Amino acid sequence: MLKYKRVLIVGSGAREHAIARALQRSVHAPDIFVLGSTQQAGLMATAHAYAQGDINDADWVTQCARDWQIDLAIIGPEAPLEKGVADALWQQDIAVIGPRKILAQIETSKAFARDLMQRHAISGLPRYQRFDNISGVQAFLATLGEHAYVIKVDGLAGGKGVKVAGDHLHSLTEAHHWCEQLVAAQKTFLIEEKCIGEEFSLLGFCDGTDIFFMPPVQDHKRAFVGDQGPNTGGMGSFSCADHSLPFLQSADLTAAQDISRHVLRALQQQCQASYIGILYGGFMATAQGVRVIEFNARFGDPEALNLLTILRTDFLEICQAMVAGKLAELPLRFLQQATVCKYVVPQGYPDAPVKNSEIDISAVQHPEQLYLAAIDVHENKLYATGSRAAAVVGVGDTLAVAEQQAESEVRRIKGNIFHREDIGTAQLIEKRVRHMRELRELSA
Ligand code: GLY
Repeated sequence: MLKYKRVLIVGSGAREHAIARALQRSVHAPDIFVLGSTQQAGLMATAHAYAQGDINDADWVTQCARDWQIDLAIIGPEAPLEKGVADALWQQDIAVIGPRKILAQIETSKAFARDLMQRHAISGLPRYQRFDNISGVQAFLATLGEHAYVIKVDGLAGGKGVKVAGDHLHSLTEAHHWCEQLVAAQKTFLIEEKCIGEEFSLLGFCDGTDIFFMPPVQDHKRAFVGDQGPNTGGMGSFSCADHSLPFLQSADLTAAQDISRHVLRALQQQCQASYIGILYGGFMATAQGVRVIEFNARFGDPEALNLLTILRTDFLEICQAMVAGKLAELPLRFLQQATVCKYVVPQGYPDAPVKNSEIDISAVQHPEQLYLAAIDVHENKLYATGSRAAAVVGVGDTLAVAEQQAESEVRRIKGNIFHREDIGTAQLIEKRVRHMRELRELSA
């Protein structure tokens, strides 16, 4: 018996578009309501009602939820979690997929997340120290070495708070200077050991007790073909039919699952609160084992597009089971198919994107595989607002089929935009496999 009929989605990116599609596929046919920060045409076409506003304003979100008599809210992005939107909705007796503010610290404070792992002796933690003054910075940087550190500003920074030795900082002097600037700006920051390997995302549904895993996905953060250029929100991603990734050993996946379970247990115990929502581990497979890059308190974007495409269990039933603490009673099924997701972004993205340029999706042949993101609509025309504009997901028995489908479809989107042609290609995947093999051989 389904309790939830009127479901609110908070957020208006492609991730939320994918959540809306997953709800549309539910046999329980919920009424979907959306609060977004732009006029997101895809969600507007899907939703029973749509309102544009500040989705980080807990008062506005709860007022809309009450007006619409919402039974269940699903919070897409991290910023509303940090602002306590989940807490405010629970106070109105509205069930929420998305953790309370105190639990969301696992994403919103890098220092909190690292300290939690250390306090609870959770494996996969790189060497790190937290700083809010310059004392000890030079010594710790020297301990890690000229090419082997990462500096992370505490708090949400939209992917711009991380500087990596060799990529952004080219000497210990430069690194020290950057830390001095952070101290002057009264920022807390972490200096961590730089890990070398291949990143992967492992997401799980959490029901206040346990975590139930989805297949792993690899995102591609760099803007340009060949992993060149600046970091972005994620240019695309792939997942495999066997629910592993070609560069992972089964021990890597088991280790990442164990770490996620341990983190969830520690987090709930330390915060004395139940985690209902998605826990997303960003991991790196290294020659020395799996390391934690970060944890997030929500669906990944683009990972959600891959995962919800192949989810076969009714998503609304999963949501109800998460709230009821009964996920163990549900068969959680994903299709044994590969997926490839590719984003189009405005020229100049991410550093100096062209803003408000028209994009044309009329030639897309499979609109059900197209997800809109940073798009505004004026007089029936779509405009890319400056961030990731739209994504397509290809799906097939093999990665090659999924990649070809995604690539031919993404090329049909026209405008002042670009995408990464290499995501999901055999050449790039072989490069990842070779990289891991070389690292493992070197350390053997
Ligand atoms: N896949 C990157 C993110 O969702 O933060």
